[in-house]
Amino acid sequence: MHAGHFARRISHDGRSGSSLPGVAEILMGVTGGIAAYKSLDVLRILQRHGHGVSVVMTHTAERFVGSASFAALSGREVGTHLFGDSEQPGYHHLDVNDGKDLMLVAPASANTISQMASGSATSLLTSCYLAFRGPVVVAPAMNTSMWLHPATARNINMLRADGVHLVDPESGLLADGAVGPGRLAEPTAIVDAVEAVLAGGSAGRDLAGTTVLISAGGTREPIDAVRYVGNRSSGRMGWALAAAARDRGADVVVVQANVDLPREAGIRYVDAPTAAAMRDACRAEFPGCDMLIMCAAVADYRPIDAASGKLDKSRADALTVQMERTTDILAELSALREDQVLVGFAAEHGPEGLERARGKRQRKSVDIVVHNDAAVEGAAFEGADNIITIIGPGESEQALPRMSKRQCAERILDAATPLVEALPSGA
Ligand code: CTP
Repeated sequence: MHAGHFARRISHDGRSGSSLPGVAEILMGVTGGIAAYKSLDVLRILQRHGHGVSVVMTHTAERFVGSASFAALSGREVGTHLFGDSEQPGYHHLDVNDGKDLMLVAPASANTISQMASGSATSLLTSCYLAFRGPVVVAPAMNTSMWLHPATARNINMLRADGVHLVDPESGLLADGAVGPGRLAEPTAIVDAVEAVLAGGSAGRDLAGTTVLISAGGTREPIDAVRYVGNRSSGRMGWALAAAARDRGADVVVVQANVDLPREAGIRYVDAPTAAAMRDACRAEFPGCDMLIMCAAVADYRPIDAASGKLDKSRADALTVQMERTTDILAELSALREDQVLVGFAAEHGPEGLERARGKRQRKSVDIVVHNDAAVEGAAFEGADNIITIIGPGESEQALPRMSKRQCAERILDAATPLVEALPSGA
């Protein structure tokens, strides 16, 4: 569990670089990419919050922003060379533990991420990373194809497994004109992540010691051996929830239906492609969990008699498929629950949907229902963003603006985690 690894890294370092509470000494690595200019904003915000910042840059980063800008803003010498250089006396990667509380890499290019994952130390920045014993926060930025490449996904998983805290990139218009994930997270989000890690222990790990069960994706109900009735759920919301819960210290089990996204380290996956398989898997995992988030789009109906072979269209001009209701898994588990927090989803269509979502929360007797209106741009099934209203707990209702699915996930967990803490078991 990577957050635990942080705790180990912090404790064996055992030193604080700053004597003021809440104020830290930060080593900021800047790598090459058009987003490097945003690092100047990150630096400014960190300084406004009272932190001291020392910068190391890769040579490629210097092609985008001059080291003089970072030196002027930080008021400190900027490290660029691996080997002692007469112009940089005293800047050595082995001094990196001296009084530094945290290392931040923003933006982190695909190349630097790959070097960090493999432990290569060819630049001052990656040498500092290897030598540093405190917590590390990495904010990647690259074009969408590079971000989605399996090699990058593999490297990111390795960093997570090594205890690095990732600030996921956002989706949007990139420098190459493409729209998709890969854009550096907003400077304020990066600073928030740094400060959450610095706050350490409970603030970043409020789900430590709990088990969170998340269903994700969309079920497919067979008509015959090759055809099915399905839906357009991509599984991205469930994936974001799983990563967020893991990063907050939970043991996470994902019961997944037909999700074609890379699997992440530190999460257990159970395959459940149909509503019946999902019901079985959720029932089996439910007794061991403290929180269930039913994010999957489960078919409400399934063909009564799926043909075992392939239906032959030459036999008739029209085809009638008889369907039967599936079991409502969320309602069923709600009736069985003893000491668990339940979160459901309501993907509605149109303005009356919010009222229907409120009704679902009552009817299924769950703590929180997350509503989204699939008719609104930015809240559709396959996108990287969502627009949600969190209904509950109690009478509370939060209508949130459009944000990334990861940010939505954090807000959902912010609402649900206090309920887990209040469980009689004190999970
Ligand atoms: N759900 C479930 N089992 C089902 C169907 C849905 O557990 N067989 C869960 C979903 O995972 C989600 C919530 O119930 O958390 C959605 O509620 P539901 O009433 O089924 O939504 P719709 O299918 O959109 O409902 P309706 O057709 O009644 O509007």
